[in-house]
Amino acid sequence: MISWRKHYKKGLIAIGLLLATSASVYAQGDAKNGEKLFKANCTACHALDKQLIGPALGGVVDRLKTEQNLDTDWLHKWIKDNKSLRESGDKYALEVYEKFNKVEMTPFPNLSDTDIDDILEYTTNPPVPEAAAPADAATAAPSAADLEASKTESQNSKIILISMVAIGALLLWLLVKLNQLVKLQQSDELAEQQVNRAVSWGELYRKYHYVGKGVLAVLGILAAYGIWNSLMWIGVYKGYKPEQPIYFSHKIHVGENKIDCQLCHSSAKYGKVSEIPSMNVCMNCHRTISEYNGKYMEPGKDKAFYDGEIQKIYAATGWDPAKQQYTGKTQPVEWVRIHNMPDFVYFDHSQHVVAGEQVIINSHNKKNPNAKIDVVCKACHGQVDTMNVVRMANDFTMGWCVECHRTTEVDMNNGYNKEYFKNLHDKLKKQYGNETKITVDAIGGLECGKCHY
Ligand code: HEC
Ligand code: HEC
Ligand code: HEC
Ligand code: HEC
Ligand code: HEC
Ligand code: HEC
Repeated sequence: MISWRKHYKKGLIAIGLLLATSASVYAQGDAKNGEKLFKANCTACHALDKQLIGPALGGVVDRLKTEQNLDTDWLHKWIKDNKSLRESGDKYALEVYEKFNKVEMTPFPNLSDTDIDDILEYTTNPPVPEAAAPADAATAAPSAADLEASKTESQNSKIILISMVAIGALLLWLLVKLNQLVKLQQSDELAEQQVNRAVSWGELYRKYHYVGKGVLAVLGILAAYGIWNSLMWIGVYKGYKPEQPIYFSHKIHVGENKIDCQLCHSSAKYGKVSEIPSMNVCMNCHRTISEYNGKYMEPGKDKAFYDGEIQKIYAATGWDPAKQQYTGKTQPVEWVRIHNMPDFVYFDHSQHVVAGEQVIINSHNKKNPNAKIDVVCKACHGQVDTMNVVRMANDFTMGWCVECHRTTEVDMNNGYNKEYFKNLHDKLKKQYGNETKITVDAIGGLECGKCHY
């Protein structure tokens, strides 16, 4: 029986070790952790498979090894502080800086060596095949691959969470069992305790019970960290579709009834912000359309449901359909905002919509006289006409903006650009020939200050 005393301590140490390893396995997870770090720190400027602001980083370790004979040591230095590396006169550091038009990469002094190894592991062996980004912005609806990728991602995080909970439960059970044994021994061996005070159970317990409590605390923190992490991974961004105060269906209005986006979001073309229409706009039609008689029904919805939603317009505007007059009692409708750029980003709708419309007028219109401005909206917002509930069709990150600026040709025939960029255009034509495509990046669409205040 006496052996238990030794084993208790050993047990605690074992638990500690187990926890430490499970925690570190979880925290690093190599490529998996690298992916997280990469997404948090690098995707603003890098992708694995294509050039954004900086070069594509897929397979960068091998590439630098074979092309430049540089090892991961160089990469560590570069990622931590590329500026110092350049200042030290490093040849390749200067070369790549020149090649990317002296755009400064952010230094990452906070990343540990393990972090960087994880990131490099991710660039070498990405765990989930990268979802193909929509190549053509005009069909930028989320691809099946995108959805699949985000699904596996949240599945993975669930598996991790479940296994963590399982480990936690197991440890707790062990702890409880040990405690029971300790108590049992305490009562059994009182006599022996007096003989051998130095290693008395009571003392051991007094000395080490806080270790048990510590273990519990660590478990709690780990569980909280896991839950927080899995929440972060579920991707509250792309696909975000909150519940709205009135069940307004774009599919019914735009898809079924062919109403133009412009009729309701008229400011998209003329202003920085494309507003949500006021209730008066709804009343232009719904003064007379007081019930739903359409053929289309979303599965799970019926006429009574739609009629009820239309009644909400009357409640909001204070319209009495029986008397056909306003009562004066209004209730504001608070639409939940879906797309929302951070304050430090400058985005102007009219700039994009006008340019897009011009392209339609120049090219498609002769072939397709019905092409409408709606096509332009779809380049960023996806197939809104098929959505009962609007959701974000793209991830609306910096990488997304930049990717389109790199690939979309600027219309050099519109008056402003023709005038303003004449010199640039002539220069590029001279350099690369008449067929040169001038994309948005050539007119400054990658300059930080254009999109950031
Ligand atoms: C603000 C934009 C920006 C961010 C954020 C950024 N980089 Fe860079 N990175 C660049 C640019 C631009 C270059 C090209 C060299 C230059 O202009 O300095 C570059 C070059 C590199 C190179 C050299 C690649 C080659 O092919 O030679 C590596 C490696 C690299 N970055 C890794 C990272 C990692 C890892 C992260 C995230 C921890 C990161 N970068 C974050 C902009 C960025
Ligand atoms: C009959 C009026 C009407 C028409 C036509 C209409 N919308 Fe909307 N739109 C709304 C209303 C009301 C909302 C707010 C409720 C919601 O999010 O569904 C909205 C919301 C949106 C949002 C989300 C705004 C946010 O909160 O970020 C986008 C994007 C959008 N519309 C795009 C379009 C596009 C693109 C078209 C044309 C294909 C279009 N809308 C046609 C009324 C309309
Ligand atoms: C240009 C005319 C027009 C405008 C403007 C309009 N609607 Fe409609 N709305 C319709 C038509 C047409 C239907 C389908 C009626 C039918 O098929 O019987 C409809 C149906 C509805 C329905 C039931 C189907 C659904 O989408 O859930 C609701 C709710 C509704 N509208 C809300 C609104 C709101 C809110 C606004 C203002 C933001 C608005 N409508 C603006 C024409 C319009
Ligand atoms: C180049 C991409 C792009 C195009 C084209 C575009 N949008 Fe947007 N839209 C955005 C972005 C980005 C936001 C978020 C803006 C913000 O939060 O400041 C947004 C937000 C919105 C909103 C929410 C209100 C707001 O302005 O924040 C509505 C409604 C909307 N767009 C409708 C439209 C309609 C209608 C069209 C076509 C006429 C259109 N958009 C074309 C990118 C685009
Ligand atoms: C569908 C492709 C597309 C997407 C996505 C896109 N842009 Fe653009 N952007 C353009 C085009 C095309 C122009 C050039 C317009 C012109 O000809 O004046 C432009 C021009 C701009 C300009 C003016 C640049 C200059 O040199 O004057 C800014 C600023 C800008 N975009 C910001 C953004 C931001 C911020 C986002 C992401 C939220 C974004 N864009 C997403 C296509 C896009
Ligand atoms: C075409 C528009 C555009 C250009 C050019 C641009 N950014 Fe951004 N940037 C954005 C948008 C949009 C976001 C917000 C992304 C989000 O909320 O996910 C952003 C976010 C950021 C962030 C916050 C971190 C993040 O990823 O959310 C930093 C830092 C940043 N940009 C730095 C830069 C630097 C440095 C440059 C110049 C090399 C630059 N940006 C050029 C559009 C742009």
